[in-house]
Amino acid sequence: MIDVSRKSIVVTGGASGIGAAVCGAAIEQGAYVGVIDIDEDAGRTICEKLGDKAFFAAGNVESESSMNEAISKLSSDMPNFNGAVCCAGVMPTREPIVEAPLENFDRVLRNHLNGTFLTCKLLGKKMLQHGGGSIVTLSSVLAIRPGPVLGYGAAKAGIINLTQSLAVQWGKKNIRVNAICPGWVDTPFIRKQEAAGRDLSPIIEMTPLGRLAEPHEISNVVMFLLSDASSAVTGSAVVVDCGITLAGGYMPYGRLPD
Ligand SMILES: NC(=O)c1ccc[n+]([C@@H]2O[C@H](COP(=O)([O-])OP(=O)(O)OC[C@H]3O[C@@H](n4cnc5c(N)ncnc54)[C@H](O)[C@@H]3O)[C@@H](O)[C@H]2O)c1
Repeated sequence: MIDVSRKSIVVTGGASGIGAAVCGAAIEQGAYVGVIDIDEDAGRTICEKLGDKAFFAAGNVESESSMNEAISKLSSDMPNFNGAVCCAGVMPTREPIVEAPLENFDRVLRNHLNGTFLTCKLLGKKMLQHGGGSIVTLSSVLAIRPGPVLGYGAAKAGIINLTQSLAVQWGKKNIRVNAICPGWVDTPFIRKQEAAGRDLSPIIEMTPLGRLAEPHEISNVVMFLLSDASSAVTGSAVVVDCGITLAGGYMPYGRLPD
């Protein structure tokens, strides 16, 4: 059964989109939730709405000292952590490689990949001291079907490998680590791109379910991975994409006999 009622879960990027849906679903079941986000106003507002089992700490996933401070604040607000979800992330940039400053590539890697590394490191350390837990990282379908976004695709592919490596390192320490690979999800992340002129209709047309996913459809799977219902699942990269990875796939079938 999917039950997170006795979990104490830290969600980075919990102030918006998928992270906010994860916080809402966990609170609905009775869990404690700690939000770490760089957007202080949005983070405080969401925690006020979520009620007295939700706590906010301002933090930047790219900085070890900032994350240490945020985690130490949440440690005094909440029971020992046994769940973590790494949702913090910035939008990808899309310039051709010959025009791309290394700094842009580096910035996206620092945010997504280093941010996930630091979150896993610092919260994993706490879980090791208190009997274990479950960590969910956010990759993307762009990790398995490349698109034109250089740093983002590389970071998301790196997150799958990091997730699997940690699943191996921590397997016997009772910490499970799994990645989710969402397709296109209707969040501010995507809508900001649409507002900046990106046409989403080719994506929707090629998606077998004919639509974007909703944030709660991602958080449903996150709840499964956080709960003991997934006790044998670790090192997985779970695709939640309305079928979009089937689009543009190439499957040689061989010549049939006449
Ligand atoms: N929306 C999609 O279609 C989609 C698809 C695949 C993967 N993802 C991934 O899911 C995750 C969440 O995406 P979303 O759509 O909910 O985005 P979102 O923009 O709605 O929310 C991201 C949150 O992360 C926070 N954040 C950004 N940088 C941070 C930092 N350095 N430190 C702390 N907080 C920071 C933002 O303030 C924001 O609250 C991201 O990793 C994204 O790459 C999203």
